[in-house]
Amino acid sequence: MYTVRKVVDDLYWIGGNDHRLALFENIFPIPRGVSYNSYLLLDEKTVVFDSVDWSVAREYLRHIELLLEGRPLDYMVIHHMEPDHCAAIDEVCLRYPNVKVISSEQGFQIMNQIGYHIKDEQKVIVKEGDTFSFGKHTLAFVEAPMVHWPEVLMSFDTSNGVLFSADAFGSFGAIDGKLFNDEVNFDRDWLDDARRYYTNIVGKYGPFVQDVLKKASTLPIKYICPLHGLVWRNNLAYFIEKYDKWSKYEPEEEGVMIAYASMYGNTEYAAQSLATALCERGMTEVVVHDVSNTDVSQLISDTFKYSHIVLASVTYNLGIYPVMKDFINDMQALNVQNRTVALIENGTWACTVGDLMEEYIDENLKLVDVLNDRVTVNTALNDANVKDVDALADAIIDSIKIIKEVKEKANS
Ligand code: FEO
Repeated sequence: MYTVRKVVDDLYWIGGNDHRLALFENIFPIPRGVSYNSYLLLDEKTVVFDSVDWSVAREYLRHIELLLEGRPLDYMVIHHMEPDHCAAIDEVCLRYPNVKVISSEQGFQIMNQIGYHIKDEQKVIVKEGDTFSFGKHTLAFVEAPMVHWPEVLMSFDTSNGVLFSADAFGSFGAIDGKLFNDEVNFDRDWLDDARRYYTNIVGKYGPFVQDVLKKASTLPIKYICPLHGLVWRNNLAYFIEKYDKWSKYEPEEEGVMIAYASMYGNTEYAAQSLATALCERGMTEVVVHDVSNTDVSQLISDTFKYSHIVLASVTYNLGIYPVMKDFINDMQALNVQNRTVALIENGTWACTVGDLMEEYIDENLKLVDVLNDRVTVNTALNDANVKDVDALADAIIDSIKIIKEVKEKANS
């Protein structure tokens, strides 16, 4: 039936896919597109869960009309008021003037700020612990502030174990007909975009995500229905564990991300030498990124993934190369912590960048250790530098071993 999919029982996905948008939030590249998810429940009462971005509003409204088959729309539950989900609220209210809108108090405040015209008699304000029945289905509401805005609600259907998780457990990437996590190779095709989505959108708010995960752990969840990406109906623990790690700022992998800023290739060559030295020593969980050609959202995603980050930068205007500075600023903005950092610096006449990066990290990033074995290049890598690169590779390998041993001890 058009692009509608049944989720379970009397619950349907009625959202849309967007391949035209180049930048999500006008900042994050989404080459695989994005989906805006909405759901419709046909109980004794009819209920729409959230709205969509205006770009897919026409199909969303058609889906509602098709599924209702002439029935009135009784309720619209609004979990989150960011415009990628709430753009069609006014249109739904115009088409179904008797619909009641269920949301948090702050959700209604934002609707008012946007200029939506929800009459007082249409509003149902809910808060943490409230329940609401639509017939066979009863929703329990869970407040989820800052996951990703302050007004966010999640709701749990106590009859079938469906969690409407708002932005949480979402992902970049259009779903294009597939709906469930078991219809894709998630690890291969989706995990990177799910991590890039989480870390850049919600990464700053790890403690708030931890609060929600604690609440969720008390619920018998069978389905997770997020506002973007795939619906989860099995192996939920896999994805919940990823969220647990990301929100605790624990690395997923003991491995190394080398991010380099290079004007003419010399710093790049030093970065590549380190990657080679690490691989020679058996550490092949190594990725290398040119900060000038890699979107910062990808750098942040890999910063959350790996335990060790190497920053290799040329000195620029006696400071940190601007694109590298942006990356380090973003690490701070997104609350990156609990990592080991190593530094490679380069400068032809006044090599200041290593000290400046170390100072910035010490002053602004929590629980980040900077290894002492810094490599200093004066223009181009020479024989002495190669020895320093080898020493740095040894120091990184030792550090990874120590972290592994501590972890194993803690788990034993
Ligand atoms: Fe997908 Fe916070 O909106």
